[in-house]
Formats: sequence, C-alpha cells, structure tokens
Amino acid sequence: MTTEEIEAAKAESLKEIAEAADAAAVEGLRVKYVGRNGSIPALVKGLKDVPREDRPAFGRAVQAWRAAVEAALAEKAQAAPAARAAAIDSSLPGDWRRPGAMHPLSRVIEDTARIFARLGFTVADGPDIETRFNNFTALNTPAHHPSMDRADTFWLGPDALLRTQTSPVQIRTMMANKPPVRVICPGRTYRRDTTDATHSANFHQIEGLYVDEKPVSLADLKSTLAYFAREITGSDAGVRFRPHFFPFTEPSVEVDFTCHVCRGKGCAVCKQSGWIEIAGAGMVDPRVFKHVGWDPEKVSGYAFGFGVERIAMIKYGIPDIRWLYENDLRFLSQFA
Ligand code: DAH
Repeated sequence: MTTEEIEAAKAESLKEIAEAADAAAVEGLRVKYVGRNGSIPALVKGLKDVPREDRPAFGRAVQAWRAAVEAALAEKAQAAPAARAAAIDSSLPGDWRRPGAMHPLSRVIEDTARIFARLGFTVADGPDIETRFNNFTALNTPAHHPSMDRADTFWLGPDALLRTQTSPVQIRTMMANKPPVRVICPGRTYRRDTTDATHSANFHQIEGLYVDEKPVSLADLKSTLAYFAREITGSDAGVRFRPHFFPFTEPSVEVDFTCHVCRGKGCAVCKQSGWIEIAGAGMVDPRVFKHVGWDPEKVSGYAFGFGVERIAMIKYGIPDIRWLYENDLRFLSQFA
C-alpha cells in the first residue's frame, strides 16, 4: 500500500465506523481494522518489506490510521447508551417491586418508643432467658405464687426460665443504674398458654419504669398513661384506673382505655362498659427497691406493663393473634 492508499482506506474505515448501526457492527469493525488479524496490524507486519527510504512516512501514515480508528471506535462506544435509551419503549409496563412493610408488632413497639422518648424515656433491653430472682423474687413474687407454677412458666432449670413478663428488666435497670431512671422495655415473653385467637405461648410486652429521688405520684402515672393512650390510638381516648393486685406494685391498678369501637358509649366489644383493659400498673413496691439495693425512703416511682399484641389487635382491627405470627404476605402487605 502506498501512503495515498492508506489515506483512502482510513477515510473509508472512518465512514464505516460512523455508520455502524449497533454494538455488534462496531465490534465487527474493531476486529476488521485493529484486531489481531486486522488490516492495520497486517500493515505493521509488512513494514519490513517497504523500501527503507519510504518506511518513516509509511509508518506515520499507519499509526495515524490506527489512532483515528481507535478514536472513532471510542466515540461510538460513548454514544451507545444514548442509542440504547432511544430504543426503550416507555409505554411498556415497568418491573413491579413489592414495597416492604413494617410488621404491626414492630410498629407498635417503635411508636411506643417514640411517644415515650418525648417524655424522656429511653429503651432498655433484657434477655429472654431470665433468672428466678429477676423474674419473680426481686419482683416480690413469693415462691408459692400461682404465676411460678410449672403449668404457667417454661422453666429451664431450678433458677432459669423463659421470662413470663418484661418486668425483670425493671430489676436489671435499677441494678445497673442510679436514680432517676426512666425506661421502657419492649421484648418477647413466654407463658405455657394454649394457642387460640387471643393467646399465644410467645408474645410481647412493653414495660415502663420511672423512679426518682423526688416524689413520684399515682397522678404522674395517670397523666403519662393518658398521654400515651391519646398518642398510640390517635384519638381522644381517656384512661381509667381500677384497683388491682400485682406483687411488685403498691397500690396496683388495672388501666383501661376508652373503648376504640364505641368511643365510650358501650358496645359488645367493651361489654357495654365503654372501657377496655390495656395495662397493669402501680407504684413500685418498697420491697422491690430493697431487692435492688435502693432505699425506699429516698426513692419512689411507678411501673406499668402491657401487651404489644393487644395494642396491635385493637389499633389495626386484627381479630386473631395468630395472624401476627404466620408471615402471610396477604396480611403483612396491608401494613405497607
Ligand atoms: N408484668 C405484668 C403482667 O405480665 C404487667 C404489669 C403490671 C407490669 C403492673 C408492671 C406493673 O410493671 O406495675 O401481667
């Protein structure tokens, strides 16, 4: 080839590259011109047969050709995505991605943590496997108490059990801190219940504890729970206290919220009372303070505990507790 012929071949190759319709055509031209057996490497191999005096000009022409072809190929490659985008038919339906949803129990726990955070409460944690001391003894629950019965508690040994309530986190919190403490403790709890529409052997509770060196009263407890009732139900629900007994509080109360169905008027759900039972609560018993080494003359506080499932079932109108554990997407996707 003469240098003129090289110039002509170069012009032709650049035209072909510019006109290549798709990636496959561009690749074909790359192979044809600069591939291992392409025309340009062939010319380089043939350099030794060119008369010595012509070699420099010939060599420069070949290198210029190679540079031009490589630049043209690179430019074509850059333009390719735009060409591909132009080929997308935006009228076709897109890929459907199912949005994730938070489990209703997680929602209640998160909402509760957020509501109590505004009142200065932090979240405390404890293990599912507890000691007899933390779950019962320190909570002033005597050895003969019915809740310690083999029929109610999953015992793992004489001193180890699956916690029957989140109340032992009260004990852990007080033992690890100094007053004041303000915590809520969400977690799994276990009881030897037979599963039905309203019972499960494994469920969730949220415990609350506030202890301070300044006097804490039953009125403080009531105003806190009244605020919680309104915030968690998103309504103007009120609270009512009924006298009750728990070993770890004195006095103890059961806490009712205004019935979410009839708004207090009386209906079948609330058995015409206008109220539904939500939580247990009370003022921390002095004996509990003694068990954790705090002086009951110097501190006072309140505690409360409620079931997460119960709140979720009321809040979202879920009629069967088992739906919360079956991981059926037809149920769960409704919380997206
Ligand atoms: N632990 C109790 C239960 O499982 C609920 C409870 C009642 C918690 C009164 C408390 C409380 O902190 O003060 O039934």
